[in-house]
Amino acid sequence: MQSEPTSSAEHVLASTVIRNIGQLVTIAQQPLPGASGPLQILHNVALAVHNGTIVWIGRDEDAGSLFQPATDMPGDSITLVDAQGAVVTPGFVDSHTHLIFAGERANEFHLRRAGASYGELLKQGLGILTTVRATREASAETLTALALARLDSMASYGTTTVEVKTGYGLDMATEEACLRIISGLNAIEENTGSQLQKMRIVPTFLGAHLLPPEYQGRRDEYLDLVVNMMLPAFADRARFCDVFCEQEAFSLEESRRILTRAKELGYRLKIHADQLSPSGGARLAAELEATSADHLDYASDEDLIAMREAGVVATLLPGCSYTLRTSYPGARRLLDLGLYVALATDFNPGTSYCENMQMILGLAMANMGMTLEEALTATTINGARALGLQDHIGSIEVGKLCELAFWSIQDYQQIGYHFGVNLVSSVLVQN
Ligand code: NIG
Ligand code: FE
Repeated sequence: MQSEPTSSAEHVLASTVIRNIGQLVTIAQQPLPGASGPLQILHNVALAVHNGTIVWIGRDEDAGSLFQPATDMPGDSITLVDAQGAVVTPGFVDSHTHLIFAGERANEFHLRRAGASYGELLKQGLGILTTVRATREASAETLTALALARLDSMASYGTTTVEVKTGYGLDMATEEACLRIISGLNAIEENTGSQLQKMRIVPTFLGAHLLPPEYQGRRDEYLDLVVNMMLPAFADRARFCDVFCEQEAFSLEESRRILTRAKELGYRLKIHADQLSPSGGARLAAELEATSADHLDYASDEDLIAMREAGVVATLLPGCSYTLRTSYPGARRLLDLGLYVALATDFNPGTSYCENMQMILGLAMANMGMTLEEALTATTINGARALGLQDHIGSIEVGKLCELAFWSIQDYQQIGYHFGVNLVSSVLVQN
């Protein structure tokens, strides 16, 4: 079926039908009949889902008699959801998080407020290494419980797909344990007593987050461990390999070595590039045709153009600028250069302790000159692009997977305007 209004008497197989959607902000990548504006908004519509896929979008008044249960099995029926005339958008795609860790670093946050820099703390063995110590000491049960609580919080603000990085283990056993936990999160179907029914989780291996303390003075040995042992061992578990390419972490050459091997092994690539100083990471992302390069605060126009030509998504993380009180990344420059721009939380205990994509969208609008339309695009379909999933999620179109956010507002223009409160009432992910 097409999404155009229909009065056909034909029946459509469906497991779930969502009625009475006041505004469906589709962010469709193809023009939809009857849709308006750059976000392709439809009014007073219904939507049907079968086997996790959107099978029909049309006028609500046509939805009454159109559907039949997916099977003839006794007891099988269609789940009806009433959107009560409110706004429905694609669920947020949070394409960059460091979700698996134990402990927190409030004291370091306040030390920074008193004048210490993030880089100085790193050099003193604090920062990421504080979290590595806590994570190594934590049990798998603790790490899993923490991850679930964080996912639940993310879902409550409208996120339906989350990329999750390792990087606080930095040894074979803990990195593997973290990857196992991340894969396990995909299988957890119901987190009782919470909003989280199901979220899509995308695992990323970030063994090259920082040199672990026990390898001080033996950098090459740690690189050998990552390249020769960890990468081959984790190729089946992680979809992406990421590297923190920064003066304080891994050099351009070291990053190239790791990412090149990862690519040979079938990983897709991400890179923390040019966050604290120009690192050459953006250029490397272009050279290796990474799926995304993230941060990019110090990337040059030349490197950004190389990224655009190589189809690398630019992921901006304003939560870091907010936390570190540094300048916000120049979204306008990237948009004007024609890059795909994604926004993500960078959820982590050091530079962005924030699960809330509405906050990130608000920061981008308030401080980076992004319009609501650009920010919504960056948090949905471009987040999906940053995970290579743009053909499956990130917009509401027939044939795409069902990942929806239900809002408690009647007009999407409330988003970014009414701030400091949660405007999402629930999410729906169907597999
Ligand atoms: O994206 N840059 C490296 N990783 C994180 C920070 C991690 C931490 O401070 O624990 C980031 O900013
Ligand atoms: Fe990060």
